[in-house]
Amino acid sequence: MTETLTILGLESSCDDTAAAVVRISHDHSPQILSSVVHGQTDLHESFGGVVPEIAARAHAEKLDICVKEALAQANMLFSGLDAIAVTSGPGLIGGVISGVMCAKGLAAGAGLPLIGVNHLAGHALTPRLTDQIAYPYLMLLVSGGHCQFLIVRGCNDFTRLGGTIDDAPGEAFDKTARLLGLPQPGGPAVESAAKTGDPSRYNLPRPLLDRPGCDMSFSGLKTAVLRARDQQVSEKGGLSLQDRADLCVGFQTAVRDVLAEKTRRALSLYLSESPETPAFAVAGGVAANQAIRAALETVSTDSGALFIAPPLALCTDNAAMIAYAGAELFVGGHRDDMALSARPRWPLDQASPAMLGSGKKGAKA
Ligand code: KG4
Ligand code: ZN
Repeated sequence: MTETLTILGLESSCDDTAAAVVRISHDHSPQILSSVVHGQTDLHESFGGVVPEIAARAHAEKLDICVKEALAQANMLFSGLDAIAVTSGPGLIGGVISGVMCAKGLAAGAGLPLIGVNHLAGHALTPRLTDQIAYPYLMLLVSGGHCQFLIVRGCNDFTRLGGTIDDAPGEAFDKTARLLGLPQPGGPAVESAAKTGDPSRYNLPRPLLDRPGCDMSFSGLKTAVLRARDQQVSEKGGLSLQDRADLCVGFQTAVRDVLAEKTRRALSLYLSESPETPAFAVAGGVAANQAIRAALETVSTDSGALFIAPPLALCTDNAAMIAYAGAELFVGGHRDDMALSARPRWPLDQASPAMLGSGKKGAKA
């Protein structure tokens, strides 16, 4: 690469509408010139999950605003851009279509190349945006909609080692919070309640630890919380604050143990390929959990792999990751045109079998 590359990215695959401008200079160091995210939590709150039709309409209304804000914050005009990158899957199809249509209009109007980006690739390439780590590295995507281990070998080259066969861990945190009368999003609420809990009181199941491989399952764990809660209510007539804290820490510890053990196995598969500079990166809202993050860091450091956890704003859904992934694809010669379609499912690793499960936040690809 001889010149700088400036890319506008758009993201609208779930419940965040986002636009960002990212610049890559000749030495390949990326710079986020702006990153605007408009969340929709308030629109979906009363429904207990993301309502796809409401999400799609909100994206259609907010995309233009996000683009304007992102360009203004970056002090850019369309004439200063080299390309437009957009999430073209996987995700809630109405939202993905809103983003793709908007990007096509902007690209046609401004005469710029268009690049369709896989949303999961955006997450998976974030450690290169934030820490410029070398390929290949091991990645754990762990959020409300995603949970999978990937060996990232290039911007278009991923090997999936395993993932959830039902709920994503964030989804399980959210459902657990709902069962215990805690607010949404459930992760931070459960983590905070867990701080005063007794971890020895509830020994909840660690699903699929008895089976080889890196696949995971979290829906049974949530059912175990339901059973323990109902038993407590039938015996004592209700839940005390301490009961709730004990259940939260029991649940969180079970999720932590499953993620830590499966990470150990994924690391051992990855390290068996003798990468030159071994690195393990996590992304997604659940990686914000301090108990889980600390356990993953320990496993990684023990195995000799550098542990990377990008800042939370870049771990959760955003458009800077889409612009960055678009930039890597652009450098590799990738271009889309007006035939670019929106894909509800789009596995990163086409060679591995399709994942089961499709959670409240859309397909897990
Ligand atoms: O990555 P993210 O913002 O959105 C997607 O799901 O794509 O992740 C949100 C999820 C929610 O399910 C939320 O409950 C969970 O991440 N989460 C947490 C924590 N903070 C957010 N889970 C456990 N502990 C946390 N501190
Ligand atoms: Zn995401």
